[in-house]
Amino acid sequence: MQAIEFKNVSFSYGSEDGRSEVLKNFSLTIKQGSFVALLGRNGSGKSTCAKLINGLLIPNEGTVTVFGMSTAEKDNLFEIRKRAGMVFQNPDNQQIASIVEDDVAFGPENIGLDREEIKKRIDFALKVTGTEGFRDSQVARLSGGQKQRVAIAGAIAISPDILILDESTSMLDPKGRQEVMHVVRTLNKEKGMTVIDITHYMDEAVEADEVLILGDGVVKAQGSPDEIFAKKDIIAECGLELPRSAKIAESLKKAGLPLGDGILTKESLSERLCELLRKI
Ligand SMILES: Nc1ncnc2c1ncn2[C@@H]1O[C@H](COP(=O)(O)OP(=O)(O)O)[C@@H](O)[C@H]1O
Ligand SMILES: [Mg+2]
Repeated sequence: MQAIEFKNVSFSYGSEDGRSEVLKNFSLTIKQGSFVALLGRNGSGKSTCAKLINGLLIPNEGTVTVFGMSTAEKDNLFEIRKRAGMVFQNPDNQQIASIVEDDVAFGPENIGLDREEIKKRIDFALKVTGTEGFRDSQVARLSGGQKQRVAIAGAIAISPDILILDESTSMLDPKGRQEVMHVVRTLNKEKGMTVIDITHYMDEAVEADEVLILGDGVVKAQGSPDEIFAKKDIIAECGLELPRSAKIAESLKKAGLPLGDGILTKESLSERLCELLRKI
């Protein structure tokens, strides 16, 4: 079964007038266990997609199903939200309790786990997100990045089958972002958690199994990072950038270095440079 399926989905926030549609006859499937980076310029409908997945929004036309359950059926929503955890960009919008530990406990308590399991989940989530140190702190007193870590801990504590991160590491510094994404990647690999990472960081997208670009209400491109970042015209048209190492490689190629194509990471860039050096 697919983890998520959008079938001919149309969605608009207000007027039914077709021109204001955010998604137009939009179809998409996301395989269970995959790590998908969802990209697109501001306003392209990424957050709308995320909210359609967990039933905060319902399509005007078409269907969204999560593990086969339609989001349009009210009776499915509790199960869908339990299985598809979501972390928003602004951590202030999802803080529930004033103390960190209670905030992280809210999800597991809400799905009716027993005391011992809840404690285990909280300990694990706080540990992996590096928030153990402020367990007893007031969420409101934390920095933006720390609040984002707590929000991610709250989602991890539910142990969802699908984790949707909607620009949820935007307030972290590069090192913090790497740490958190490493945790998410490990949960994806070891527990088979499906991840949808909505991000502006192309270096994060390079690490995904699959990259999806939204634009003009449809999926503009879908494929492996290698395939997607080779489509330079679509990248530019959709207001995106190349990953940093790819940009450096492009500049070096313009300056005359025969580096070849397909460089997306620091590792592949340094490998190619070393190969060149050996030939000199
Ligand atoms: N609550 C809302 N009411 C009306 N329009 C909205 C609302 N939320 C988003 N939009 C509009 O829908 C479009 C897609 O927004 P969004 O899904 O937030 O894009 P992204 O997350 O890719 O930046 C934008 O044009 C935005 O202005
Ligand atoms: Mg958004």
